[in-house]
Order: sequence, then C-alpha cells, then structure tokens
Amino acid sequence: MKKITINTSPSYDVIIDDNILNTVNETILEYIEPCKICIITDSTVSSLYANKVKTSLKSSGFLVIKIVFPPGEHSKSLSTYSNILEAVADEGLTKTDCIIALGGGVVGDLAGFVASSYMRGIQYIQIPTTYLAALDSSIGGKTGINLLRGKNLVGTFWNPKLVLCDPTVFNTLPTIRRMDGIAEAIKCAVVTDKSLLGPIKNNSYTYVIERCVSIKKSIVEADQYEESLRQLLSFGHLIGHAIEKLSGYSVSHGHAIAAGMIYEARAAYKMGFTDTDISKDLETILRTLGFTPEVSYTVEELMKYVIMSKRIHKDTIDIVVPIEIGKCKLAKLNMYQLEEYIRVGKE
Ligand SMILES: NC(=O)c1ccc[n+]([C@@H]2O[C@H](COP(=O)([O-])OP(=O)(O)OC[C@H]3O[C@@H](n4cnc5c(N)ncnc54)[C@H](O)[C@@H]3O)[C@@H](O)[C@H]2O)c1
Repeated sequence: MKKITINTSPSYDVIIDDNILNTVNETILEYIEPCKICIITDSTVSSLYANKVKTSLKSSGFLVIKIVFPPGEHSKSLSTYSNILEAVADEGLTKTDCIIALGGGVVGDLAGFVASSYMRGIQYIQIPTTYLAALDSSIGGKTGINLLRGKNLVGTFWNPKLVLCDPTVFNTLPTIRRMDGIAEAIKCAVVTDKSLLGPIKNNSYTYVIERCVSIKKSIVEADQYEESLRQLLSFGHLIGHAIEKLSGYSVSHGHAIAAGMIYEARAAYKMGFTDTDISKDLETILRTLGFTPEVSYTVEELMKYVIMSKRIHKDTIDIVVPIEIGKCKLAKLNMYQLEEYIRVGKE
C-alpha cells in the first residue's frame, strides 16, 4: 500500500493498493463520518465495479445510492450535469453527505463539478478506474464539463477528500483506453522525468501511477490554481483539445494529447523557443507504443478551438516548450504569432 499526501488547501491522501476496492468501506471510514453516499459513475463502470463498492459501503452502515450516465466524453455536458444535479437533489443529499466519483476522467471531472457546486460544495472521493484517471485526472482538484465551443470551458477547482486507486481494475480496460493513460504518462516523462519512459513501456502500472502522482503533487503544491508552473502539465493539450473537439470526440483525450505533444514540440522548435527538436524522438516513442499521431485538421480549423484556451491572457498565450525529453519550460506567445505557431507545427 502506498499513501501520498497532496498538501494543497485542503490537503488529501491518495492511496494506491491492489484490491483496495474490496475494503473500500474500512478505508473510507477513516476519512468521513457515516453518511449517505452517492456513487456517480458511467454505465460501463457501473456494471463492472459499482456493486462491489456499494456492498462494501453498506456493510459499514453507509446509506448508498447510485447515479449512472452513458459513458464517453459526450456526457461531460451541461445536460448530463443538470440531470445529475436534479437526481442528487431528488435523493435528498445534504451538505454533510458525500459523492463518490467511480470511473475514468469523464466521471471524475463531472462528478467533481457536481460535488463542487451542489449546495455550494460537498465532499467527494475519487475512485479512478482508468489508467489516465489514476495517474492524472483524479489528482489536482480540477473539475469541469465541455461547452459546444470547446473542452473544459466550465469548471472549478475542488479537491477531493480522498483518492482511492486499485490498479487491478485496469485488467478490464480495453487496450485503446490503456493507451490514453500511457499518453498522459509520457507527457509527465517529457515535462519532468525522462526515466519514466522505461516503466511506461514495461507497463509497470503501479510504479508509473506513484511517480506521476508524486510529480503532480509537487507541481500542484507549488501552483494549485494553475497560475504558472502547473501549465507545464498542459503540454500537448492546446492542440490536443482542439483535435478532440474537431473529431467530435471520436479521438479520445489521450490519443489527441499524443498528437498534440508532437505538434507543439515541433512548433516551439520552429518558432525558435528551443534549440532542440524533440518531436521526432517523441513521435518514434509514441509510434513504438502503437499510437498513430497524425493531425488531419487545417490551421484554420485548429485555430477556431485554440483561441478558446484558458491559457490566453490579454494578448499573449502561454505555451509549453520542451528543452529536452524530461525538461520543459513555459514561454509566452504573442497572439499575433499564434497562427504561425499552429502553421509551423503542422509541417
Ligand atoms: N481534471 C483533470 O485534471 C484532467 C486531467 C486529464 C484528463 N482529464 C479528462 O479526463 C477525461 C478522459 O478520461 P479517461 O481517459 O479516463 O476517459 P473516460 O472516463 O471516458 O473512460 C474511458 C472509457 O473507459 C471505460 N472504463 C473506465 N474504467 C474502466 C475499467 N476499469 N474497465 C473497463 N472500462 C472502463 C469508461 O466507461 C469509458 O468508456 C477527459 O474528459 C479529459 O478532459 C481531466
């Protein structure tokens, strides 16, 4: 069992342990008083793991209800958000009750946003069931939903009370979903720690999760609200989010980020922000792992969504610049240079 404490405000523990889902009641009782718990999950995860969690919690006297929505990025919407809020209210959840986000990043972002806004905020626990959610999205307290104009345009910072990660649940993950996690892990390696590449390639899930959580811990502790340093973790996301949106979410988050990282590395080099072009090495790494990171959209199409980025401040946009694999820096791009940045990234 590995416990990592994230010392933000408020702080919370991340517990990583094989089969921790079997004793979820005992662990949760160490963190919250007996109360009504609302499990929010998608239908795929519900059929695989919700009963196990529900039975365990009930055996310790928790009153448990469950709200299920269809799987996939399309559910990170205003309409699903509003349906869940109405259901939560119908179930009579009070300020002292608790939400459990049981699922991947979509469940975590959506249920976290519900928890942060229902009754001006109630406690919630993240139980990530995808590799991506375990190593990235369940940590850091970012919640949110998408608008028609782009990804994650509405959301909050709302830290969970606890994150419980059981790596055995990845046994049921389809390969394509494992790859989504691999892409975010590679992002971590490129941003801060090249030595992660070996364990990522060897599918050393528990080690990679621990290391990525520790990296994210140090970054969010220094910059909880993403005012500077935390933006490093958005490497590949400027272009990646645009790809996801333009594909109608048929390209998943991790796969879009994989393509976005190569694109942004090439653009930063060609714009003269770095002397090193890591894009080719990065592309080789990603292709060896089974990715086909191609971007078929035009500069104009990408621009339409890039300009919705939360990294735009007045007339500049913050970009992530790889100096080498394992080291990145932030730089400011003048908005007049943005179109050129997107154009040269494509070449
Ligand atoms: N909040 C953050 O800091 C942050 C960081 C990175 C990504 N994200 C968000 O995370 C989302 C992507 O998350 P994701 O890749 O986990 O996608 P996801 O939540 O859509 O899950 C992918 C699919 O896997 C299924 N699934 C989940 N667990 C499973 C399991 N154990 N076995 C079998 N199937 C399972 C789900 O039902 C779904 O169909 C995006 O919306 C992205 O914006 C948020």
